[in-house]
Amino acid sequence: MINKQEFARRRQNLMQTMEDGSIAIVASAQELVRSRDTHFMFRQDSDFHYLTGFPEPNAVLALIPGREHGEFVLFCNEKDLEHETWHGRRCGPEAAVDKYGADDAFPIDDIDDILPGLMEGRRRIYYEMGKNNELDGRVMNWVNKIRSQVKKGAQPPGEFVDLRHALHDMRLFKSAAEIKLMRKSSEIAVDAHIRAMKTCKPGMTELDIEAELHYEFCRNGARFPAYASIVASGDNACILHYTENESRLKNGDMLLIDAGAEYQGYASDITRTFPINGKFTNAQKDLYNLVLKSQIAAIEMVRPGNHWMQPHETAVDVLTDGMIELGILKGDKAQLIEDEAYKKYYMHKTGHWIGLDVHDVGDYTIDNEPRVLESGMVLTVEPAIYIPADDESVDKKYRGIGIRIEDDILVTAEGNDVLTAGVPKTVEEIETLMAS
Ligand code: GLY
Ligand code: MN
Ligand code: MN
Repeated sequence: MINKQEFARRRQNLMQTMEDGSIAIVASAQELVRSRDTHFMFRQDSDFHYLTGFPEPNAVLALIPGREHGEFVLFCNEKDLEHETWHGRRCGPEAAVDKYGADDAFPIDDIDDILPGLMEGRRRIYYEMGKNNELDGRVMNWVNKIRSQVKKGAQPPGEFVDLRHALHDMRLFKSAAEIKLMRKSSEIAVDAHIRAMKTCKPGMTELDIEAELHYEFCRNGARFPAYASIVASGDNACILHYTENESRLKNGDMLLIDAGAEYQGYASDITRTFPINGKFTNAQKDLYNLVLKSQIAAIEMVRPGNHWMQPHETAVDVLTDGMIELGILKGDKAQLIEDEAYKKYYMHKTGHWIGLDVHDVGDYTIDNEPRVLESGMVLTVEPAIYIPADDESVDKKYRGIGIRIEDDILVTAEGNDVLTAGVPKTVEEIETLMAS
């Protein structure tokens, strides 16, 4: 759990990056219609969650450094017993002060009357422009309302600054409490992948396996996956974001599972690829061991002082080398890498930041240079090889095989810590587990 003090510390840290005489405005996520009058399950906006912990839609946070009557102002739905009987409990402004540490909290329906007054006299507005069109319009209306009062001495804000720069840099570095939640999210996903490996048999469907994964997530407190689970058998694995999960599992094929849990907001993201019948063929082993070798070499490169592209460059080097050896690529390694020949079979990058969002926020380049890794960052390492079923330039035995191996890696002062190491990944470990 992230406690109230940590949420307060985050707001303080953000306010310290703001110029004097400014205000920050951040909105909650909104409910989304799934079907006529029913909604998708609500998921809080990650930035709003990071700063407030407030779990409801229809809320707005204003941070006003130096404001005498309190710097943290929250607008939210009012209590409404009849509405709550139908749709669930609400916190309400009164309880928000105590429960979430707001200095002031007001009904969201009063925001048009109150927020312009809080903005007046502030020179800059820190805001996430372009994220929510409706809110963009409302923020401009609030500014215009102040502008219409200039003859009476009102001072409208004159500058907008993108709040994301500072906020997303904060989110990139995980606190001790966040790392604890990410470990838990990872553990849950590890158990789910192990369950899937143990259960998998020819004749089941991809959806059967998805059910096993989600059952394990739910019973461990992760009600939702961090993203749509990918359960891709045979050449479905060559589709990077395959989510139909509707094919039957064939004896002799492999199964690629890319699934992670969301635990108290924090994502895990694991991929494993294994033979459906529990025993690798020689051709599967050739490709699998190559991807594994590249993944282990790439993880080696995750340490403070290295930049974030080094794992990718290492993976590309090992994969290209191996594809030459297996006759999949032909030519000189350096030239093939320069020509990006590997992209025909490995077309994505080797990883991404992970945190409250599975593809988490934070700049990947600084001054046009790849960002240097620092302790507290968490990223995935996920090299792969995808050989299309109809690629006649490759030996038939390799066609229609897609293999990805993905782990979540915490950068530590000494090097790294693989949060998802619990899922077997050598040929021997996988075959042993599946035989048990
Ligand atoms: N599951 C999406 C990804 O691996 O990035
Ligand atoms: Mn993934
Ligand atoms: Mn990933």
